[in-house]
Amino acid sequence: MTPSSTTDRPASPAVSIPFDALDVAKRFGTPTWVYDAATLERRVAELTRPGVTVRYAQKANSSLALLSLMRKLGVVVDAVTEGEIRRGLKVGYEPSEIVYTADLFDDAALDTIRTHGCPVNVGSPDMIAQLGDAGLSHIPVTLRLNPGFGHGHSQKVNTGGTSSKHGIWHTQIADCIALGKKHGVRIRGLHMHIGSGADFEHLAQVGDAMVDAVQAYVDAGGPGLDLVSTGGGLPIPYRKDAEHYHRLDLDRFFAVWGEAHERIKQIAGDQVELEVEPGRYLVAECGYLVTKVRSTKVQGAGDDAKDFLLIDAGFNDLLRPAMYGAYHHLSVVPADGRALGDELDYVVAGPLCESCDVFTQAEGGFVETRRLPEARPGDLVVIHDAGAYGAAMSSNYNSRYAAAEVLNHGGELHLTRQRQTFEQLVENERVPDGL
Ligand code: LLP
Repeated sequence: MTPSSTTDRPASPAVSIPFDALDVAKRFGTPTWVYDAATLERRVAELTRPGVTVRYAQKANSSLALLSLMRKLGVVVDAVTEGEIRRGLKVGYEPSEIVYTADLFDDAALDTIRTHGCPVNVGSPDMIAQLGDAGLSHIPVTLRLNPGFGHGHSQKVNTGGTSSKHGIWHTQIADCIALGKKHGVRIRGLHMHIGSGADFEHLAQVGDAMVDAVQAYVDAGGPGLDLVSTGGGLPIPYRKDAEHYHRLDLDRFFAVWGEAHERIKQIAGDQVELEVEPGRYLVAECGYLVTKVRSTKVQGAGDDAKDFLLIDAGFNDLLRPAMYGAYHHLSVVPADGRALGDELDYVVAGPLCESCDVFTQAEGGFVETRRLPEARPGDLVVIHDAGAYGAAMSSNYNSRYAAAEVLNHGGELHLTRQRQTFEQLVENERVPDGL
């Protein structure tokens, strides 16, 4: 189709690639995840406030290299599985710095908690009894509450309300205190994570809900509280165009929680500490997925025709667009160093044998186009803000190998995860004799 001029396009704030993408492609191949340490450090510094503990929700990206960096920067972690607990231990966290937050225990998690003594944030009342029955009543416990309402950038990430499996229903606080007393389990804090992408109206509601929960807890004779946790959900500016670009006002965020915290201290005492638990905010923007254009083609003819840009990463690598219709900014990097040319409306799609393997789609699977500089096979497409829920949610679908991971640190690119090989892909499989 015919390229058109770019002059009417709004300016894009804050779009940069802080490394040489062509060098990445040459040295490590494509697709490759690149994490920029300086960006991560900046995000940690922004969230580091006096008297507030920053706990990283490592489900967003549990790369050992990033976890090590977090530890160096004084950030503690959460874990939702035994595997995540062990990742935390492997990079040197003390067990007391790793909180297991989940709505259930499996055997492996209980065994590891028994061995190491990590604190637990229980998301279901049964977990209190199970800790007691397992002889683990000495484990420090917080209650993850479902305040009865939720929020999310997609219905699929809404964590509150009656349709959510997460957390303990807010009216069951007294029952949990009674369960704790019965099983000798000491509750020491309350936690709420209402969903990803909170706005201030919702945030104030969550602050109020937390104050109400603390009041209900004290009224029901709960043991002394040491901490309240706000959960995560801090949004990042995935959209870069001037009209949609919006960076969270952190001072306002901390003002809302600071005010709730003051009210909580008046109810439950000055010893109650405040904790925040972001995943995305800390790592999304430091991550880039470097991919290569392998083919361009036009489907159809005339006004209905669509230009396709086929790249070598699929939803097995970055699931968010296919799963939630999530938006990720895309940059084209010409392989031959030529200046970027006129723009086309492209559908950007991957290699999987599946129609929804498309990076430009809205929620519900509706394929959209993205205005991008004309690209040719061999050029790179860099997918931005891919550090959170990118590699962490990737799979081996279509027998594709987990992509390489690289850390841009101290002016150098360090390979932090080798591209998976075919042998590693099949190493746990067995073919029964005689087949
Ligand atoms: N704390 C708890 C208990 C959580 O369940 C989560 C996220 C977080 C903290 C961190 O939320 P964040 O700050 O990263 O929004 N895969 C989805 C997001 C799922 C979030 C799951 N829980 C996505 O790609 O948007």
